[in-house]
Amino acid sequence: MIILKIGGSALTIKDAQTPTLDEKNLERIAQEASFYNDDMIIVHGAGSFGHIYAQQYKIGDKPKTPKDDYKIEGMCITQASMQLFNHKIITKLQEKGIPAIGVKPSSFVMTRNKRIEICDTSIIQRYVDEGFVPVVYGDAVLDLNDDVKFAILSGDQIITYLAKELKCNRVILSSDVDGIFTDNPKNNPDAELIEVVTRDTQLKVTDNQDQIDVTGGMMGKINELLALADEGIESQIINAEVEGNIQQAVSGQKVKGTLIR
Ligand code: IPE
Repeated sequence: MIILKIGGSALTIKDAQTPTLDEKNLERIAQEASFYNDDMIIVHGAGSFGHIYAQQYKIGDKPKTPKDDYKIEGMCITQASMQLFNHKIITKLQEKGIPAIGVKPSSFVMTRNKRIEICDTSIIQRYVDEGFVPVVYGDAVLDLNDDVKFAILSGDQIITYLAKELKCNRVILSSDVDGIFTDNPKNNPDAELIEVVTRDTQLKVTDNQDQIDVTGGMMGKINELLALADEGIESQIINAEVEGNIQQAVSGQKVKGTLIR
């Protein structure tokens, strides 16, 4: 089984002030994903459909009162925005012939201190067994820690959880960069792509501070994927903006990127 993560940065204009879809990229990425040749689960990020609200309402911070109306409003708005985004994505995937079924993570996942604690993966497995491609996403969820009550669950955490539980053999994480570099390629022209990252690799990851990313940017992704590697599951970071990359990756061909193992 393949898990394909499509980063929010590839599907939206991430630094927009309001949720803004990158229609052109969505069209192309959906077309490329239709070349999958194995069971597949798609996980998408939030981009400007989620991070704006997550930050504005400080979801994951302690509520001011036991029933904090502002936080409750933030949960409603973030979930609704993500559900709308998911709807746009599954509609496009279906148009390309993928039997995509949207599954809302906040309806079957609860975290404790921001890590998944309750998650019934049998629903996802059953959809896969019946021939569907479930499409889940980073979401605003209930947290079992009564101090914080709510949390932002990243698509990256969902990937690692599902990959372990459902024994996936291929994890492809696509975003708007080629992979992991020796330094930030946006500021340092000498930065080189690292082809293989393990727990022993010395990393210097400086995220783009201008971008809103409440779930930890590239370092957050690496940590999730290293945890997966600890379980013996390899993953690959590739650039979704490079035409053909997703098509090649989902059909099992080699793609330029970083392997995490
Ligand atoms: C974040 O998910 C979810 C919300 C902010 C609601 P991700 O962390 O997976 O999203 P991207 O890929 O960075 O946009």
